Amino acid sequence: MNRFRMLFGKKKTMQDAAQADKTAHHEATMQLKGRTIEKTVIPEPGKTILQHAKDHEIDWQHMCKRGTCARCRCQVLEGAEYLEEPTEAEHKRLDPEEFDEGFRLGCQTVVKAPGKIVAQNKTYF
Ligand code: FES
Repeated sequence: MNRFRMLFGKKKTMQDAAQADKTAHHEATMQLKGRTIEKTVIPEPGKTILQHAKDHEIDWQHMCKRGTCARCRCQVLEGAEYLEEPTEAEHKRLDPEEFDEGFRLGCQTVVKAPGKIVAQNKTYF
């Protein structure tokens, strides 16, 4: 019996395995809504929301990239549990009520684990 059959059983095929892999990726998606561009991408743990947006050419506003200007502010609509806790810079820049409403700073918010995440860039002006 070859290794593939040992892993997936007699009736499973390579196509079944490929479909299972696709399904797993679909569950771990990141939907990013910029000013005019919205895309769904695969979340990469260790990268910030802003890095994801820039890598995928989403028009996500930003300037300082160190948590002071708040241009990258966004509202996390889904999947906050897949993100690292707010940084000290976010606590200094955002009000407690904003955290309650799901607001974060895109340049500070790091993906912790793959999962379904939805975030929208919402600056103050
Ligand atoms: S780019 Fe300035 S706070 Fe994120």
